[in-house]
Amino acid sequence: MILKDRNILVGVSGSIAAYKACELVRTLRKKGASVRVCMTPSAKEFVGELTFRALTENDVLSDWKDGETGLEHIFWARWADSFVIAPASANTIAKIRFGLADNFLTSVALAYDRPIVIAPAMNTKMYENPSTVENIGILKERGHILVDPSEGELACGEEGSGRLADVEDIETAILYSILPKPLKGKKVLVTAGGTREFLDPIRYISNASSGKMGYALAKISYALGGDVLLISAPTCLKKPYGVKTVDVVSAEDMYREVMNHLDDMDIVIMNAAVADFKPESYSRKKLKKAEEKPVINLEPNPDILLEIGKRKRDDQIVIGFAAESEKLIENAKDKLKRKNLDIIVANLLEVFSKEKHKGVIIFSDGRITEIPPMDKEESAYFILNKLFTKDS
Ligand SMILES: Cc1cc2nc3c(=O)[nH]c(=O)nc-3n(C[C@H](O)[C@H](O)[C@H](O)COP(=O)(O)O)c2cc1C
Repeated sequence: MILKDRNILVGVSGSIAAYKACELVRTLRKKGASVRVCMTPSAKEFVGELTFRALTENDVLSDWKDGETGLEHIFWARWADSFVIAPASANTIAKIRFGLADNFLTSVALAYDRPIVIAPAMNTKMYENPSTVENIGILKERGHILVDPSEGELACGEEGSGRLADVEDIETAILYSILPKPLKGKKVLVTAGGTREFLDPIRYISNASSGKMGYALAKISYALGGDVLLISAPTCLKKPYGVKTVDVVSAEDMYREVMNHLDDMDIVIMNAAVADFKPESYSRKKLKKAEEKPVINLEPNPDILLEIGKRKRDDQIVIGFAAESEKLIENAKDKLKRKNLDIIVANLLEVFSKEKHKGVIIFSDGRITEIPPMDKEESAYFILNKLFTKDS
């Protein structure tokens, strides 16, 4: 697990969204991280220290009087691989901007010498107030990682921006704060999901791809510093944080979008399950149930990977995926060659739509690396690490 044994310090400040920090802590623990929580005195009005002590199985500090040495703000800042303030109140954001250290949490923030992940949560008017806008702008300029709040109904009954970002997005920002940046300055295109080839307005031919692997590749490419564009066929997944997304439906839509962006890209990761065929005809009206057995004639879709292989420049890296029922290595090697790819990641059909992934990475120079069974996010990290870090 990518977060396994990482030390994550969660700072909780006085926002109505403080209870959501409990879910964040649980998620980080489930992912194997060691978590500590520090709180502002006013955060304790919203959630008790005991809750966080139980969830983290660690001490919780909101004041030095509960520590041992009085130097805990220094030691805790040093301990943390990542420091995330979620929720960050308007007040705490303002204090961090001005370097105030009038409580334990703001003292840790001042003693922490790397980018802090800051997830604001507040009423829309507070969030849009020029003071807050300026404070957040300056913290961003200093390199802190601001996880923008989402829009929706707020606790005060108003609608607008200011809701604490989803736990999943905050977790991605934490990964971004921890992982090295081998993809910095690189434009990465990822495709994901299974295309739909419509017969009439409501019926289509598709496949069992969940999009999980492609979304994981997009998320981890972002966390490794890439400027990521995800071209996604329909999935039930939440769009990854920090990634630009274009939604498409059919193989032809995907072909058009991929070709539009191809020349701009340094790395192309083609994970989508693109339909090889589409119905020859499309009915604008819903097809009626017929007496006779219907016959669907199919015609080929554009072969996106083949086209990319033909058009790719020498300085571009193209990674394909192959799902095979049998003869995994043999079939994948053939696809790698036929489509002029640099790398192919091959797996047996059994991982389709499942939580776990396993397979092999085959390079165009003949090297083969086995991918052990692991969840799709870890697998994405394993693959990208093998390809783009020096220590692989
Ligand atoms: C019920 C209630 C809800 C609040 N919710 C928020 C909030 O979501 N965001 C925020 O910035 N301030 C909120 N405040 C105001 C802060 O709690 C207040 O500014 C406090 O001084 C923040 O202190 P801290 O930054 O040290 O935690 C709320 C106050 C109350 C009483």
